[in-house]
This record gives sequence, structure tokens and C-alpha cells, in this order.
Amino acid sequence: MNAIVYQKFGNTAVLQSIDQPKPIIQSSQILVKVKAFSINPMDWKIRKGEMTLMSGSKFPKHTGTDFSGTVEEIGGSVSGFMKGDEVFGVVKDMMKEGVSAEYVAVPASLVWKKPSMISFPQAASIPVVGTAAVTALEKMGKINSQTSVLVNGATGGFGMFLLQLLKQRGADVTAVTNSKGVEFAKKWGANAVIDYTKENVLSQSSTYDIVIDLSGKMGYKAAKQIMQSKAIFLNPTPKPIEIPVSFFKNLFTSKKHIVIVSSPSTNYIDVLLGAVKDGMQIEVNKVFPFSQYREAYQYTEQGGYIGKVVVEIK
Ligand SMILES: NC(=O)c1ccc[n+]([C@@H]2O[C@H](COP(=O)([O-])OP(=O)(O)OC[C@H]3O[C@@H](n4cnc5c(N)ncnc54)[C@H](OP(=O)(O)O)[C@@H]3O)[C@@H](O)[C@H]2O)c1
Repeated sequence: MNAIVYQKFGNTAVLQSIDQPKPIIQSSQILVKVKAFSINPMDWKIRKGEMTLMSGSKFPKHTGTDFSGTVEEIGGSVSGFMKGDEVFGVVKDMMKEGVSAEYVAVPASLVWKKPSMISFPQAASIPVVGTAAVTALEKMGKINSQTSVLVNGATGGFGMFLLQLLKQRGADVTAVTNSKGVEFAKKWGANAVIDYTKENVLSQSSTYDIVIDLSGKMGYKAAKQIMQSKAIFLNPTPKPIEIPVSFFKNLFTSKKHIVIVSSPSTNYIDVLLGAVKDGMQIEVNKVFPFSQYREAYQYTEQGGYIGKVVVEIK
């Protein structure tokens, strides 16, 4: 089968297409014929060698984490699936495995039936950022119409899910986005929208109960000036040292710094599919053919897109 791998850390030039044997499944696994996989910032952070503490430095490495496709083969101890079922899922070890291939072997517990109302590219967009968005909601605690939330980076993959989930729960959301995202943020229900290319969110006078930074550029220290006295700052891109340090500092400050580490599971996927039924939209900005995998990564790494970017295997 055809697979995309890399043999050293670097930019998209290190990605190469190779021929390798189809994976052999264990009894608890399913072999999926991949139809689509989505691109996540984590893919290129790992490829560029920015996460070696967790990814290790063993090569070759595959890329891509969440996928959709059809069931090709079912392990002996797996029930509830049939050959040909339309499914989506995620690899078990996001740091060391990848789905950028024609077939992928994954634990059945991380494969879910694809509802017919969503396409393969949309389904492949859900697990990583959708789960992160639900995890962020859990960290926020009780939310109602009095809860003011600032989502910085509100129309990328994570933001698209989070903004709509927050609105389904009635929060008062301010979305910070690029110019192209302004209309999307309004469509997804944001109460206020700030175009970060025109206005510095840190220079305005409003303060919030919750600030979440999905751009990785704001940081807790800067965010404090737009946080109310007992507000929380949610950080899904912590540096390793920030995890213990924020825990310790939170004991002494009323403005909390909370890191997010998410891990997909059926409970999260159920919440997300429920939200889709209730009208949550999954915007796939661009679908690239498998042969253009380098272009897909280059396009995504430049930013400026809305929602998700997906690679499709025909
Ligand atoms: N901890 C976890 O479990 C977890 C899980 C999933 C994702 N993440 C992380 O969460 C982050 C967001 O993920 P994602 O998939 O949504 O990434 P994404 O699609 O790249 O979205 C990031 C968004 O931030 C915007 N942005 C860039 N600079 C900005 C600025 N100065 N002010 C406001 N917004 C700005 C980007 O806009 P432009 O396109 O204009 O640059 C983009 O829309 C990533 O770093 C990802 O690695 C963490």
C-alpha cells in the first residue's frame, strides 16, 4: 500500500510517499481502508522535531492522527462492526503513530460509525479537535448566558467546534479570528467578533470570565489584563514546564491558568455527534488529493483557512 512517511525532522520536503505492506491487525483491532485524514498543527510540530520529548526520534514516522474510511477487516475479539461499515477514528498513540496511508490498523475502541449526514472529510475532522473542544468545556465548569468567554483563534479546527458548543450551551462568546473568519464566527453564533488583523484584543477594555487561547500566541501573562478577578485562562498549547508551574501558582492566585490535554474516547464523540444532530456545522475548508500531500501540509501550515483541511484517498 501507499503511505506517507519521513525519515528525519524537517519541513514538508522530508515527507515522502513509499510502498509498504498493509498492516496486520491484532484481535482487538480493525483494519480501515482510509478515505480521508485531517491535518492538525500537531502533525507538523512533531515533524519539525518540536515535540521529541513525547514523539521520540525513531524513524520512519507516519503523520496524521484522525481519519475516516471503511472497515476492511475485523479482529477476532471485536464485535459491532461489519466489513464495509463507514467509520471514523483516531490512532491510539498520537505521538508515535500516523494514518497517512491507504490502510490503518487501530483499536476498535477508537473507531466509530460515521453518521450518514456527515461526509468522509467532515468525519475525519472530528476526533482530535472535537475532543479537545469538549475537554475545554469540561474545564470551564458550569456555563450559562452570564458566562463571558473569549475564544482567541475561534475559526480554526478547535475554535470551530468550541465556539458552536459554547453557543449551544448559551454562553456569551467573543470570537477573535482572521478577516476571513468574521462571517463564519457570526454564522456560528458569536455575540461579538474581533478581527485580530485589525484590532489588538489585549488593548480593548472588556474583560471575561474565561479566556482560551487557540493561537498559541497570547499566553497567560498577557491574558491576565482581559480576565475578570476570578477568571480562568485555558491553555491547550502549554510548554512542558507550564504544567507543574501553573498547578502550583494556581494555589496562590484567583486568576487561574489551566492547561488542556485531551484524549479522544467514545464519550467525547457521543457529545460531538449529538451537537452535530443539533445543528453544529463542520466546515472543511479544502480537500487535497493524496498525491498532493505536501501541498496540503504547506497550505495548512501557512494558516488563513477556516475549519479543517483534509487529504482524501480515492
Ligand atoms: N492540548 C490538546 O489536547 C490539543 C488538542 C488539539 C489541538 N491543540 C492545539 O490547539 C491549537 C489550536 O488547534 P487548531 O487545530 O484549531 O489550530 P488552527 O486550525 O491552526 O487554529 C488556530 C487559529 O488561531 C488563529 N490565530 C493565529 N494568530 C492569531 C492571533 N494573533 N490572534 C488570534 N488568532 C490567531 C489562526 O488564524 P490564522 O489562520 O489567520 O493564522 C487559526 O484560525 C493548536 O496549537 C493545536 O496544536 C491542543
